[in-house]
Amino acid sequence: MTTTTLATARPSLHQRFNAAIYDPFVALGQRRGHAARRAALLGGLSGRVLEIGAGTGLNLRHYPAAVEELVLTEPDAGMAARLRRRVAREGGAAPAVVRVVPAPADSLWFADGTFDAVVPTLVLCTVPDPAAALAEITRVPRPGGRLVLPEHVLAPDDRRLARRQRRLAGAWAARSVRSAAG
Ligand SMILES: C[S@@+](CC[C@H](N)C(=O)[O-])C[C@H]1O[C@@H](n2cnc3c(N)ncnc32)[C@H](O)[C@@H]1O
Repeated sequence: MTTTTLATARPSLHQRFNAAIYDPFVALGQRRGHAARRAALLGGLSGRVLEIGAGTGLNLRHYPAAVEELVLTEPDAGMAARLRRRVAREGGAAPAVVRVVPAPADSLWFADGTFDAVVPTLVLCTVPDPAAALAEITRVPRPGGRLVLPEHVLAPDDRRLARRQRRLAGAWAARSVRSAAG
């Protein structure tokens, strides 16, 4: 496996803390179906793949051998540090070429139609400008390429759950803004 990493800034204490709690925070959901869903969504991909906001790299082990090149974007320095460590650790199972870059979703550095697939999983809830991010995310797949975009959505038929989601969304957004600010 060949890996290239573009340096990100040194993570602040807050970014390191946020990154350290991410995997434990999502562990129950992972066990209760998210990991299987990731595997099902990513298992059919091939060629050049761009993952947006890759976090700590929970998707990494699910990419099949048919993925020849994987570019992982992660602008948060704390997450990026953990991502690089996971790439090194899980190298055996990862695609042949892996690059980690700090490009934010609303300002991708790649030409139109560069990728066979673009993968933002659970990212749009965190980005400051989802419309700008979506414009970029839909610009870089080739014609006929794939967009794999599982997201948190508001419960459509459970008003109590929807109310709780709205409350949590406020806290989550405040945490994300603090993390972006370092
Ligand atoms: C909820 S985590 C999801 C991580 C990973 N995609 C997953 O499925 O586990 C959201 C990720 O989006 C990243 N992120 C935040 N703002 C971003 C932006 N403007 N562009 C790209 N990624 C961003 C965060 O740093 C974080 O790693």
